[in-house]
Amino acid sequence: MKPDRNTNLSNVNKNRERILSLLRSVDREGMDAFIASLDASDFFTAKGSYRHHNWKGGLAAHSLGVYDVARVLAPGENADSLIIAALLHDICKSHGRWPQEAGGHGYRSVKLAEGCGLKLSPQERRAIRWHMQHKRNVPDSDWQQARKERLRNAICMADSIDASSSWIVEHLQGCCSGR
Ligand SMILES: [Fe+2]
Repeated sequence: MKPDRNTNLSNVNKNRERILSLLRSVDREGMDAFIASLDASDFFTAKGSYRHHNWKGGLAAHSLGVYDVARVLAPGENADSLIIAALLHDICKSHGRWPQEAGGHGYRSVKLAEGCGLKLSPQERRAIRWHMQHKRNVPDSDWQQARKERLRNAICMADSIDASSSWIVEHLQGCCSGR
């Protein structure tokens, strides 16, 4: 739901603290440098998308939403991988510091994370890289492997669920405003 201004300010702080706490709980090569880069960017205040979570702090809220949904969809999945794949799947949408590149935002998010020195497992890398891919006939062996993996499928589904639910609420708010 789109929060009002006062609620949003507190949500930005709360979401930042929760995301940083989750990332710090992961013992992974390069995590400290990645966290420093993330905190120096506008990730925690950026809008999510022009279609959903289109408000200050929406990107971080969406990332946490994907994490919460993915945990339900994939019980027993590696906890560190769920945190990394969910929270990092859209990091390239943070525009303040990191450049945009061709290749789709999953691909760009992988490059940004690895560019900070963060070591991703092959499953995490594929979950982020292919989280937007819904077509089955892409002639890419990495995609063919990704579509079989529960982590990637959970992130893809959670992304759709969280984005869609936000879109519905924001659309209804827009339709009903002024009444
Ligand atoms: Fe997303």
